Parts: sequence; C-alpha cells; structure tokens
Amino acid sequence: MNQHTRLDPIPFVDLAAQRRRLGKSIDEAVGRVTEHCLFINGPEVTRLEAELAAYCGARHVVTCASGTDALLMVLMAKDVGPGDAVLCPSFTFCATAEAAALVGATPVLVDVDEGTFNIDAASLARGIATARKAGLKPKAVIPVDLFGQPADFDAILSVAAAEGLFVLDDAAQSFGASYKGRRLGTFGLATATSFFPAKPLGCYGDGGAIFTDDAALADKLRSIRVHGHGSEKYDNVRLGLTARLDTIQAAVLIEKLKIFDDEIAARNRVAQRYASGLGNVVTVPRVADDRTSIWAVYTVRVPGGRRDALAEALKSQGVPTMIYYPKSVHQQTAYSHFPVADGGLPVSERLSKDVIALPMHPYLDEATQDRIIKAVRDALAD
Ligand SMILES: Cc1ncc(COP(=O)(O)O)c(C=O)c1O
Repeated sequence: MNQHTRLDPIPFVDLAAQRRRLGKSIDEAVGRVTEHCLFINGPEVTRLEAELAAYCGARHVVTCASGTDALLMVLMAKDVGPGDAVLCPSFTFCATAEAAALVGATPVLVDVDEGTFNIDAASLARGIATARKAGLKPKAVIPVDLFGQPADFDAILSVAAAEGLFVLDDAAQSFGASYKGRRLGTFGLATATSFFPAKPLGCYGDGGAIFTDDAALADKLRSIRVHGHGSEKYDNVRLGLTARLDTIQAAVLIEKLKIFDDEIAARNRVAQRYASGLGNVVTVPRVADDRTSIWAVYTVRVPGGRRDALAEALKSQGVPTMIYYPKSVHQQTAYSHFPVADGGLPVSERLSKDVIALPMHPYLDEATQDRIIKAVRDALAD
C-alpha cells in the first residue's frame, strides 16, 4: 500500500457504496413512480406503511415528511400545548425538545445514563417534580433511543404510568433495534422515526414515520398530515401540516428495507471489531444485555480533555469524526431558558465534552476498520 492510498479520505457514512449494491433496483423503483405519476400518496406509500408495520409489529404506521414532523404530529394530535411539560433527555439532537417547544409546551430537560447515553429514569422522576414545582402539567415523556440503542422502556413506562404521562418514543436513530426481544415501534403510545439519508434506514431526502397501536390516534395523524382534513375533502376539522412522505421516497425505502437486516448485521460486525480493537484505549459503547443496537453512530468516550486533539490527529490521517453532541440541548442558545431536572444534568455535560464518533456504515471493510483502529491507537499513544 503506497502513501497516497494510505491517506485516502474515508467516508463517515458511505451512501455511494450502498448505491453500488442497490442503485439499479432503486432507480427502477423511482422510474415506476415517474411513470405512474402518483407523486403524492401513491401506492408505494401504502405498501411501505404495511411493510414497516409488519417489520416492527406496530398495528398502524403513518409515514410523514421528517422525523421532526413525526414527533410534532403526535404532540399536536394529543393537544399538548402551553402550560404542559414534555420531559426530554438533554443529550440528544435538538429536534426532540424542539417538537415540544413548537406546540407551545415547555420541554423539561433531564439527564441520561452514563453507560447507554439514554434517559435516566431517576432524573426523569426528578424532572417531573421540577415541572410540577414550576406550575407546569407534565403530559408526555420523549425518551430517545440514542445512537441506535433502545432506551430502558420498563423503567420509563413505569415512571410514566405512575405520573400519568404518555410515552412518545424518539427512535429517529434506532428503528430496527429491539428491547427485550421486541422491535422499536411498539413501546409507549407512539414511536417516531426519521428517514434522513444518513440514518440506517434513510431515503433520498427527508422522510419519517409514526408507529402506534392506537387506531384513533393513527386516524388523527393521517388528518394532521394533510392540513387537518375531515371526511369531506375541503372540510378541514383541525389545524394540520403538509407533512406527507413523497411517493418517490417511499419507493426508495421499500428497496432499502429489503436489505435492512443484512445491513444491521454488517454494522454489528463493525461495532464488534471496533470494540475489540479499541476497548483498552477508549471507552467503547456498551449495549445493555436486554437490547440490540443498529449502530446508527459509533461513539466512543475519550476523557481527560484529549477528545479534540484525537479528532485533529484522525483528520490528518484521513479519518473523519463527528461530535454528537458538543453541547447538550440545555446548553444551546434556543433552549437554555427551559427548565432542567433538579440536581442538574452532569452526565449530559460530561458526555458533551468526551464523546467522539468514528466512521460507521455497513460497507466499512475490514482493512479500513483496521486503518481507523490503528489511527486511534497511534494518536492516543502519543
Ligand atoms: C434523536 C433525533 N430526533 C429527531 C430527529 C429529527 O429527524 P429529521 O431530521 O428527520 O427531522 C433526529 C434527526 O437527526 C434525531 O437524531
């Protein structure tokens, strides 16, 4: 291997590699849509919803325009609004809390578990008390299944039931993962996911879906998805959105769903090799025994203020990294005025300083994995 090859940049997520495997069938599927011209609510949308329901075991699937819309639509359907508190982990992508703020509710930010990066049930209970003290009515909790691993649903559902909250699972990063043998999409009142292109099940633009066993909620979501329509076409019975999934995106997702399990297995193989190659130099992520991960992101921890130097060293070796998330939600400008659970959010703040994500996708070959592992080890040996 010559010097030039050694330093070729490595893609962080390699959608081009997936296209080499699936491009022809996706292009043909898109071609069928451009032939039948049913660009909105075409047959592929109905078929995708049925296939997603069969995949995860949810009774109803309502596809929509993004993961953010998926969260927002459920909160709208449940009439969450001003005076209501929505409990969210702070160590997540902002969209989780944003959906609550967009309906006029107050996101109350709670801490996460150091081992799994997911919502900490004890902090959740403290956050509910904080919300009540502030005169808010706690209505919902949005646990996030961060980086591909499900949250601890037994603990969350028990706090939510005791406190009268509904659970809206944010599985934007984790659709396909399971908790105690059950796939995400079936926990709590509803589950939201995202089909953003870099997600493990991503389309060729923006997209999302909501999963629920509640038929009345599913009907309401279908109404909200199209301006709050009623049974007559121009009788709009509630406020809604333009939040449909395009037929072309549904066609792309139908093709990708066919190989999704195979890609999840490949991601798990990469994660295992990273763990054995790096476990003694960084803190590698841990999947709880009762869960599976789809490894949307492979995040390690590098404590002691060495994270940014590692990122620089890897960059010089052509190894891209990402920091998810350099600031927790409560540390960001648009969210810093929202309440946090009593006792503060020390774990979220620590993680934001320590975490760094390595390239992760199903087409990362062993030679490239070894190059990444060596680059990390060399950088930390200095
Ligand atoms: C945890 C989480 N929630 C919600 C979203 C929003 O999804 P979208 O970008 O499809 O709106 C994302 C997207 O990255 C996410 O990671």
